[in-house]
Amino acid sequence: MSDCIPFAAGKSALATLYQHYRFVIDGPGLIKSGCARFSSSLFEIPRTFRFGQIILCTPKLIEELKNTPSAVASPEPWIDQLLQISHVMPGYFPKGGGWPAIAKTTPGLIRGTVYKQLDRYMPSMNEAILSQFRTLEFKNGECAVNCFDFAYSIVARSGSFALVGERLSQNEEYLKAVKEHILGMIMTTRVQFLVPDCLKRYIGGFVSRLATLGTRWDMHASRKILLKHFNARAAEYHDEMGTGFVPDDQGASTESADKPVEIFRWLYESSVLRQRWSYSEVIGEMLLLQFAFIYTTGYALYGALAELARRPEYIAPLRDEIEALFSDGATVSACNRMTLLDSFLKECQRLHPPAAVSAHRVCVKPLELSNGITLQRGTHVGVPSAAIQRSSTHYANPESFDGFRFAKRAAAGTQNTGLVDLSPGYLVFGMGVHACPGRWMAGALMKVVFAHLLVNYDILMPGGASGSLTGSLSFEEFYVPNFVLRIVLREREK
Ligand code: HEM
Repeated sequence: MSDCIPFAAGKSALATLYQHYRFVIDGPGLIKSGCARFSSSLFEIPRTFRFGQIILCTPKLIEELKNTPSAVASPEPWIDQLLQISHVMPGYFPKGGGWPAIAKTTPGLIRGTVYKQLDRYMPSMNEAILSQFRTLEFKNGECAVNCFDFAYSIVARSGSFALVGERLSQNEEYLKAVKEHILGMIMTTRVQFLVPDCLKRYIGGFVSRLATLGTRWDMHASRKILLKHFNARAAEYHDEMGTGFVPDDQGASTESADKPVEIFRWLYESSVLRQRWSYSEVIGEMLLLQFAFIYTTGYALYGALAELARRPEYIAPLRDEIEALFSDGATVSACNRMTLLDSFLKECQRLHPPAAVSAHRVCVKPLELSNGITLQRGTHVGVPSAAIQRSSTHYANPESFDGFRFAKRAAAGTQNTGLVDLSPGYLVFGMGVHACPGRWMAGALMKVVFAHLLVNYDILMPGGASGSLTGSLSFEEFYVPNFVLRIVLREREK
């Protein structure tokens, strides 16, 4: 790494040691202090046994990264680092090296399906959300739920509708395995990541297995269950095939025109009919998609539900908007017109992103920045999204929650104020060509959940506004939800 790049908290031996330790247990705190110190340039977070992580602080440098082609700085090696794919997903990477072709197809597939055909997914997504609400048990008109688990379960069920179809998304064993596998993969791979690369193939698996054995984060146990269901579903697809139809790159399938595309079916049919990728690649991609879809959206919904529960003053205006627009049911058009709810959700995302860094890229070729620094091949670089989203450069009173901040901006004629709009001050969905292609689906899903919730229930937080949304420790740049936070749903008298 270039010697002229400063470390977040100094380069002395003691400071470096401290940063290694602090990043693991409080990455967001370390990044925040680095941003305050080096707001007009960039800094590095030193990592044990590997290149450090470069954080770009100025709008100019961030814009340069945004415009850098993937052939120079790509998110793919980072995804491998993050989820340790080469170690925990055998067969996913092609034998000759490189990134699997299937992964290059997926963002286009997501854009072609859950974005362009979002309206087709709405009825089944709505039904999945309602069926998750039906699992709640009310006593004397009230039901206390674990906030993260509630949000995560709704998203797991409705996300599975899009990924594997209706029947499997109602299978409780499958859903439990989906939820546990994602959390298990996060735990396992983060522990494995800490093992030096040279030792990883010998003890990486053992160490991470030991760290999660006997917990609900046992990735191996839940993966076995998922594979059983995937294999059974793939056999059904196989039996139903034979029409001679070859699916196209935009997600068209053998389904009838108004039916939503089942993502697993599309990937599987493509693998068999076009022989573009192997079954191991299809399974690997499904596991990655579950992570990209369900954990992120679950975390976003969790933050929004918790904020609503501790800010009862938002219930009445949001409910009025929903009741005026939702009477015809869950449609894309109704969701698009919910401007107050859109603003509320965006404010929640602004203050509670899942991680303090966004738009991760790894240089696959040297990247020369305009400040004269060249980032060498292999350098990991990203953008401090959490700090930017709380900065006074972009927001008045950035630390205070104003649920209608973005609605007011829109009314004043400001551009890009929507939940899914990208802008330099709002990076929760990333930036540039790799920005999240699933964000429209995530936004619609959260709006439908809020609609059902607010039409039928009041929502409260026991203990009032005091409950913290994050656990006492974060892990590297990732925020850890407060897994014990509870909210109460109270049936409304209508
Ligand atoms: C609130 C929920 C979500 C958040 C916060 C989120 C966030 C992100 C972020 C930060 C990125 C990386 C962007 C970049 O590198 O510039 C990303 C990429 C991606 N997301 Fe999402 N996401 C969410 C929901 C979803 C959903 C629902 C899906 C699938 C339907 C999805 C599929 C993907 C895919 C396939 C990519 C890779 C895009 C590429 O590399 O070109 N995400 N997401």
